[in-house]
Amino acid sequence: MTAVQPATATAPGKIILFGEHAVVHGQPAIAVPLAAVQVTASVEPGPPGHGTIVYAPDAGKTLTLREDAGTSGDPLYDAVGYPIEVTRRALGISLPDMTITLRSTIPIASGLGSGAALATAISRAFAEAVGHPLSNDALNPLVYEVEKRHHGTPSGIDNTVIVYEQPVFFVRGAPIETFAIARPFTLLVADSGQPSPTHITVGDVRALYEANPARVGLVFATIGSLVNTARQAIESGTIEILGTLMDKNHALLRHLTVSSDALDDMCIAAKRAGAWGAKLSGGGRGGNIIALVAPERSAAVSEALRAAGAVSVIETTVQ
Ligand code: MEV
Repeated sequence: MTAVQPATATAPGKIILFGEHAVVHGQPAIAVPLAAVQVTASVEPGPPGHGTIVYAPDAGKTLTLREDAGTSGDPLYDAVGYPIEVTRRALGISLPDMTITLRSTIPIASGLGSGAALATAISRAFAEAVGHPLSNDALNPLVYEVEKRHHGTPSGIDNTVIVYEQPVFFVRGAPIETFAIARPFTLLVADSGQPSPTHITVGDVRALYEANPARVGLVFATIGSLVNTARQAIESGTIEILGTLMDKNHALLRHLTVSSDALDDMCIAAKRAGAWGAKLSGGGRGGNIIALVAPERSAAVSEALRAAGAVSVIETTVQ
């Protein structure tokens, strides 16, 4: 039986600044980690015969793993059991005697990467506890494997930004590129309180593309060129133009049918209260919007977002 040592690992949330959905179809996208929310996974050894038990006290849930549970399709297994199964297989070991306790401040299905962060923290803590700590390069494909189970055809941007905990300029299948942020900027991340069903929106965008490849392909390409302009603006510190680019990106995401009245209302409210720009972030139809603000406008824009229905607003500085 594999020896187990106590181990703890964390993983942050993420926000996509530009390029979601088009990134699934080969265009670039920009994402940054969101350290204000995170998952923590703590491993404690168990006595012989105890098995591998995952305990999520905040959700009041416990999962006991079995080596034949790989096709269960149970959402709890998919979220917290499958990362262990993928890691165990990669390390070539059987299920050890341990308890993994999970704590998370990342709202589920909100477009902030809760699934990828859970998988990252679990897999990291598990591997360290059994004496085989994983490098980020080794961990990233394992978390991508878990993402495929959740989303079908993920681009890989969520796992990449969460595993490496760095801003990324991401192109599907290309080597990871990070970039410099010349001048810090302030974002408000506002949660609509409605779930963002990424696997459904990604499937709907694919169907839209297949029905009209010329028109929808042009929308993807327009988003891609806007992402390149945004990267230049971030690298040169010309932050003000990012607001206009965010508004344009949001309009194009509306064309792709992944916005909602709640998300549009929050974007409009943020702009009226003085934000430089606003857009949905992540899979859409629910989840979060992000608004770019001058620090002195942050309180007023936050208040306007809450009045427009936001259930929570997080301020973050991208630097
Ligand atoms: C989800 O956070 C981002 C999407 O572009 C899907 C993906 O890239 O896998 C909507």
